[in-house]
Amino acid sequence: MAAALLGTVGTVPDSITITDNRTGDTLEVPIVNGGVSSADWRKLLPDVFFYDPGFMATAACESSITELDGDAGILRYRGYPIEQLAEQSTYLEVAYLVIHGELPDKQQYDTWVHDITYHTFIHENMRKRFMEGFHYDAHPMGMLVSAVAALSTFYLDAKKLADPDQRMQEIIRLIAKMPTLAACCHRFSSGMPFVYPDNNKAFTENFMNMMFSPDAKYAFDHPALHRAIDVLFILHADHEQNCSTTAMRVVGSSHADPYTAASAACAALYGPRHGGANEQVIRMLTEIGSIDNVPAFVDAVKGGKSGRLQGFGHRVYKNYDPRATIIKKVADEVFEITGKNPLLDIALKLEEVALKDEYFTSRKLYPNVDFYSGLIYQAMGFPIDMFPVLFAIPRMSGWLAHWQELLEQDSRIARPRQLYIGAGARDYVPLDTRS
Ligand code: ACO
Repeated sequence: MAAALLGTVGTVPDSITITDNRTGDTLEVPIVNGGVSSADWRKLLPDVFFYDPGFMATAACESSITELDGDAGILRYRGYPIEQLAEQSTYLEVAYLVIHGELPDKQQYDTWVHDITYHTFIHENMRKRFMEGFHYDAHPMGMLVSAVAALSTFYLDAKKLADPDQRMQEIIRLIAKMPTLAACCHRFSSGMPFVYPDNNKAFTENFMNMMFSPDAKYAFDHPALHRAIDVLFILHADHEQNCSTTAMRVVGSSHADPYTAASAACAALYGPRHGGANEQVIRMLTEIGSIDNVPAFVDAVKGGKSGRLQGFGHRVYKNYDPRATIIKKVADEVFEITGKNPLLDIALKLEEVALKDEYFTSRKLYPNVDFYSGLIYQAMGFPIDMFPVLFAIPRMSGWLAHWQELLEQDSRIARPRQLYIGAGARDYVPLDTRS
């Protein structure tokens, strides 16, 4: 994105012209891919920074992984519509797609699945010594954040970031070990013995088995439920520059190893404004308790008395979240097997009331991916505090695709500027002379 010379206004059709009113200097900056380069801006205004809390209007990178048009409700991975992938693909194929940029051929797919399958085990010390150090009621997402970081101490070669083969090795390890770590966190926090990975089972089936075996209460061995989880994993695989992916990129830009960077991404996902929202949705629906209480609850949200409507709203989607549409369909299929989640009726009523209410429509607040996903997980028998962990398992492939892209782009270390608003220079006063 090269800027036109100072003073040559109006020569580039897709451009903006910046004028510094203090000096009268102008600069024409081309608009490329919907953005303008800050490098051009700095030529004219080196000491003027954008004040942009929450990155409302800042593109921190160029990316070719996920395309999202929030107004049109479009989500595509590497150009493929999410609807087609959810219908026809598998999570592991989608993971290959986001990482490699293309769908695999048969041989590539078989090799990829084989490699992932044979890296599902975690070191015995992780399970026996590290995991058992947690308090008995530790939140599984807190355990996962720490466990992902701890993996970096087992794979010292992961620091060889310049070696593409080494990078791919760590990518395979991380994608493969997420279900094992996730199930391990659950088994520990519920006091149950660890179930080792079974390399004869497919990715999702293996995860369900590690979670629930041999508890017959759960329909963990039902193929339709494995498929439902696989579809949810596809929907959660990537979502461009969200909070956790940004954390991955920021920490990755310091050239920390991928385990450490992925742990930061997990930590960002833990928050209730991001991946923790699916957990909060169930708590909110439980608190509402009955359909009759929905209007009063919505009024309380509008009046600022009940916090936010969890699972509603999105920074980018100002129309229906396309993932929510697919999830609603999956929910129907799952409930046919598990029986309907009793909270579903409250959720449907809440959606109906909110979508008719001017407060929500004027702010373009629609159900997001988290509004219905928790209902499905709960009906399948997943404990509520495992919900953010379930989000983290597939999002690992997206985080790693961005990490890989970042390293291949020779990015600079992430280091935003600030607008200082604190005290001016003043002299230190010794403690005994301070009033
Ligand atoms: N319930 C009630 N009001 C809301 C909600 C909500 N869920 N979300 C936004 N608003 C209101 C805000 O109060 C604000 O109103 P105002 O203009 O009168 O002050 C307006 O809508 C804009 O809200 P912002 O906070 O500016 O929107 P932002 O883009 O920063 O936040 C977010 C997006 C964090 C997702 C927000 O909508 C939210 O907190 N939602 C609930 C939590 C949630 O579901 N998170 C999951 C997101 S999806 C994901 O991460 C996978």
